[in-house]
Amino acid sequence: MGWLQGDVALITGGGSGLGRALVERFLEEGARVVVLEYSPDKASALEKDFGDDVATVVGDVRSIADNKKAVALAVEKFGKLDILVGNAGIMDLPAMLLDLPEDKLDAAFDEVMGVNVKGYILAAYAAAPELRKTKGSMVFTASSASFIPGGGGIFYTASKHAVVGLVRELAYQLAPEVRVNGVGPGPMRTDLRGSKALAPQDYVFSPQTQEVADMVFQAFPLKCDDPADYTGLFVALASRRNAATTTGEVINAADGLGIRGTTFLTGAHFKKGYVHT
Ligand SMILES: NC(=O)c1ccc[n+]([C@@H]2O[C@H](COP(=O)([O-])OP(=O)(O)OC[C@H]3O[C@@H](n4cnc5c(N)ncnc54)[C@H](O)[C@@H]3O)[C@@H](O)[C@H]2O)c1
Repeated sequence: MGWLQGDVALITGGGSGLGRALVERFLEEGARVVVLEYSPDKASALEKDFGDDVATVVGDVRSIADNKKAVALAVEKFGKLDILVGNAGIMDLPAMLLDLPEDKLDAAFDEVMGVNVKGYILAAYAAAPELRKTKGSMVFTASSASFIPGGGGIFYTASKHAVVGLVRELAYQLAPEVRVNGVGPGPMRTDLRGSKALAPQDYVFSPQTQEVADMVFQAFPLKCDDPADYTGLFVALASRRNAATTTGEVINAADGLGIRGTTFLTGAHFKKGYVHT
């Protein structure tokens, strides 16, 4: 029996990357899934590939009406809602603040914060009444950029730090009925897009060549780049049986970044025997 047997989940941004891997894993664990997704093509691919246990709403996480529509569909089609996974997100541009054009700052802030932060809060607002009924839970996709700088630009890093705050605040406000947690992945190969305000040419964040991928992943000790590698933590946190005592936590799952140490600086000393044992 799966860890989410009989549960009903709403996953935002389930059309590609981590969200789609979560849809697949949640189905394997016995859940039925509603997806709120911006791209009509990605939404129809989900319905085609996964059949009747998946239902989609094409919409924008920045709209409370679209979030409510997705919750209503879960209740209408599958009878209830047990889990919200807030996941839809966008990048900004890996650039220094002072290199950004002044006339794009307002729009970029509204866009990135709108999707990455407001989108999570609106989904929580729409889902909480149903989750209270089922004593369910929320799991939000954070990032390594929730803990350290340099994983994105100023808007992305600020938005992902804000995810830690909203997880804690929601956990505080919704206990004891609803648990609220987060998972912060390291870099993955996905379809993650940049802010249109900053990069109207549809910038794709994930490494597009092997050379760039090798450069990025060499900094991460575990070298995982497949979104599927991250799905187990979402399942565990969403599972009533396995995470009944955990709320308000964001698991830093950033591919071992925290134990990288300073070998990149001191490695030469190790090799030359300068470090005493
Ligand atoms: N890719 C990485 O390296 C990485 C690392 C850490 C965290 N993350 C986070 O993972 C999450 C998923 O991103 P991903 O990397 O799988 O990218 P992705 O682009 O493959 O998936 C995001 C999905 O969200 C959808 N989406 C975007 N804006 C939306 C909106 N306004 N309304 C509804 N749906 C919308 C997209 O169409 C897409 O299907 C994001 O929160 C991202 O910040 C990604």
